[in-house]
Amino acid sequence: AKPEPLKIMISGAPASGKGTQCELITKKYDLVHVAAGDLLRAEIASGSENGNRAKEHMETGQLVPNEIVVMMVKDRLLQPDSQEKGWLLDGYPRSSSQSTALEKFGFRPDLFILLEVDEEILVERVVGRRLDPVTGKIYHLKYSPPETEEIAARLTQRFDDTEEKVKLRLRTHHHNVEAVLSLYEDVTFKVNGNVEIEEVFAQIDEAFTKLLKSREEVSLAA
Ligand code: AP5
Repeated sequence: AKPEPLKIMISGAPASGKGTQCELITKKYDLVHVAAGDLLRAEIASGSENGNRAKEHMETGQLVPNEIVVMMVKDRLLQPDSQEKGWLLDGYPRSSSQSTALEKFGFRPDLFILLEVDEEILVERVVGRRLDPVTGKIYHLKYSPPETEEIAARLTQRFDDTEEKVKLRLRTHHHNVEAVLSLYEDVTFKVNGNVEIEEVFAQIDEAFTKLLKSREEVSLAA
């Protein structure tokens, strides 16, 4: 029988490297990347009322209200591609109520990856981050610079990527993180996110290898 698609969550402070690692994970494991922040930014770009409301909260580093976020994430996870290939959920849940809302729809992760990064490193990563609006790729002026002049010229910065705003986002993160962690203790894998991008990925890859191996053993024994 075809193995069940993987269900993975990735969590960590602002700029801990979630998006960067998700690019590498999806490349290797072909999961559907569902990023709560990206869904919200797309909603803002659409000019909808929900988008406008979301932006007000994001500007101050607060969580966007559940009535906007929960349905958005749930609907994306229920799309046929997520159901068939498996999903990699990034930046959700950020509170126990968000987790409960997902559980009601039967969504529980096989693995909960937590990126741990020191605070002074986070601020530097936020301030140097740039995005390519054409490919969606994440860059950093110092740690992951654009490959060509042409790409460099079109890079943009996120509206919440200032030192002042990241401090507000960090405060919100600290306030909420423990409640979420306690819900997934049995499937949590902590990663040292202070090291280079490839080294962070090597740790995550090891967790995937173990998970896939244990699933194979279970299916052989059945
Ligand atoms: P969201 O978009 O999820 O932002 P975030 O959690 O603050 O995380 P980031 O996207 O800033 O960082 P990242 O961890 O993906 O890091 P990246 O890989 O880019 O959320 C934004 C807002 O939306 C929230 O504040 C909230 O208002 C709202 N929101 C989102 N989800 C919500 C929810 N569930 N409920 C309610 N509201 C919600 O890396 C950062 C930089 O560092 C890059 O430049 C990268 O190149 C560089 N870098 C990465 N790894 C390394 C490394 N190992 N070494 C050196 N540089 C590195």
